[in-house]
Amino acid sequence: MIDLRTDTVTQPTAAMLAAMQTATQGDDSRDGDPTVIRLEALAAARTGKQAGLYMPSGTMTNLVAVLAHTQRAGEVLLERGAHMLNTELGGLAAVAGVFYKGIPGTRGAMDETALREAVRPMTRNNFGTALICMETTHNGAGGTVLPLAHMKMVHDLAQQHGIPVHTDGARLFNAAVALGVPAADIARHTDSVCFCVSKGLSAPVGSVLCGSSAFIERARPFRRMVGGNMRQAGSIAAAGIVALETMMDRLHEDHASAKKLAGGFHAIDASLIDPADVETNIVRVNVRASGRSAASWAEAFRAHDIAVSPADSGSLRFVTHRHIGNAEVDAAIGACREIWKNTTK
Ligand SMILES: Cc1ncc(COP(=O)(O)O)c(C=O)c1O
Repeated sequence: MIDLRTDTVTQPTAAMLAAMQTATQGDDSRDGDPTVIRLEALAAARTGKQAGLYMPSGTMTNLVAVLAHTQRAGEVLLERGAHMLNTELGGLAAVAGVFYKGIPGTRGAMDETALREAVRPMTRNNFGTALICMETTHNGAGGTVLPLAHMKMVHDLAQQHGIPVHTDGARLFNAAVALGVPAADIARHTDSVCFCVSKGLSAPVGSVLCGSSAFIERARPFRRMVGGNMRQAGSIAAAGIVALETMMDRLHEDHASAKKLAGGFHAIDASLIDPADVETNIVRVNVRASGRSAASWAEAFRAHDIAVSPADSGSLRFVTHRHIGNAEVDAAIGACREIWKNTTK
C-alpha cells in the first residue's frame, strides 16, 4: 500500500530507534527529564524563542497555547480554514472557554481588511480580541506558506492592540524550507509557535510549543490540566531530537515529489490541479470535472493499493513524505490516469 493520506505515517529512522534505546528515563512531569529538556531547548533555539514545552500532539500544543494566552476570556481570530477551527473539535470553546471568529482568507492568509475590522477592544460589554492565530504551512489551503510580509502585518497589528499572536506551525519546517529561511525568521512574527516532530520529520510522537520563558511557565500548568504531562518521555523526546537535528534538510525532497505528482496530474487533465499551487508537501486535487465524488475516487485509488484522503466532496488530498519516492509518485500518477480514463470515457 502506498500511503499518501498524510505525513504522520512516517516511520522512525534507524538513528531515532537507536537514540530511543539509550535515552534517559526520568519522570518529566515530576523533575523534568534530561532528554525532554534537551529537546525543548533545541526547539526553542530552532524557533528563536526562549523556551519550549513538549507535548503529545499538535492539537494539544495549540489548545495549551490558547489557554495560556487567553486566560479563558475573549475572542480568538483565525483564518476560516484553520486547522484549529475546523479539525480540533472545538477545543477552543469547549476547553479553553473562548469564542472565535473565522476570518476569510486567500491561500491561508487572512484578508487584511477583514482582520482589521474584526479586532475589537475590551469594553464595558465586551471581552475584546484575546488572541490572533495563524497557520503555516496551511493544511486546509493545500500546504501553502504564509508570506513573511503577511505574518509581519498580522503581528504588527496585534502588537498595536496589545493582542498576543500564536502560530500553528505543525509543518513549520516545511514552510522554512519553502521560503529558504531559518524557522526563526518565521517565528519572529509570532509570540508563540508550535511544530510537530511527528509529521514529515518522522519522529513517532510529539509537538513542541515555543515562546518566551514567562509564557512557557504560564503554559506548564495548562499542559498538566489537559493531561499533557508525560512521565518517562525521554525515549520519544530522543527521537524528536534526531528529527530536529537530521530530518529538516531532506524536506525539500518531499516538496519535489509533490511538484512531480502535481505535474503528472495536470498532464492528465488541467482541471485537476495547477502545479503552481503546490508550495510544500500537500497536493490538493480537484476531481469535480470528472463528475465522480472524491470519496469514490479514493475508493478507486484503493483498488490500485494507493491510499489518499478526500479533502471535501470534490477534492482529494495527497501528502508526500519520506516513504514516497519516484516509484510511488509514478504509481499514483498512473492510477490517476486510469481512473480518469474509466470515469470520463
Ligand atoms: C496544521 C495542523 N495543525 C495541527 C495539527 C494537529 O496535530 P496532531 O495530529 O498531532 O494533533 C495538524 C495535524 O495534521 C495540522 O495539520
